[in-house]
Amino acid sequence: MATEQTYIMIKPDGVQRGLTGEIIGRFERRGYKLVAMKLVHASQEHLEKHYADLKGKPFFPGLVKYMASGPVVAMVWEGKDVVKQGRALLGATNPLASAPGTIRGDFAIDVGRNICHGSDAVESAKKEIALWFGEQNPTINYTRAVDTWV
Ligand code: TYD
Repeated sequence: MATEQTYIMIKPDGVQRGLTGEIIGRFERRGYKLVAMKLVHASQEHLEKHYADLKGKPFFPGLVKYMASGPVVAMVWEGKDVVKQGRALLGATNPLASAPGTIRGDFAIDVGRNICHGSDAVESAKKEIALWFGEQNPTINYTRAVDTWV
């Protein structure tokens, strides 16, 4: 299994509710490596690009407004199968369908306030990382002492 990267974002409700440390901790404890991170108050135009595939959905305007309502934590996580496993850590899109033990299953009850975002495929992760961090060397390459153990 090749090492891959995924784009994980703590949405404005996650930041406002003080869940940033909790969410980062879950990815760290699983063994994944943080290779880029920043706090961003994104514009509606930027978020329309991020959610371009959903343009035309009835919830799209509300989604963009909610996402632009406050800062988000933009992150890139790296490790084996991290795209799929990251989505598993997040839980189902609708928190009411998310298993307890997942981030959404533990902290959310509303699909329009579901705390976090995770890329759904390696290709979309590449696009999202470029959109949020730029095309040029967006991530940090470093070795952790624990890399031998996870
Ligand atoms: P989507 O890309 O389908 O899900 P995911 O975030 O799990 O990849 O939808 C993007 C976001 O849009 C989702 O996280 C929450 C919001 N959304 C709604 O507000 N209502 C809905 O009915 C759906 C499907 C999504």
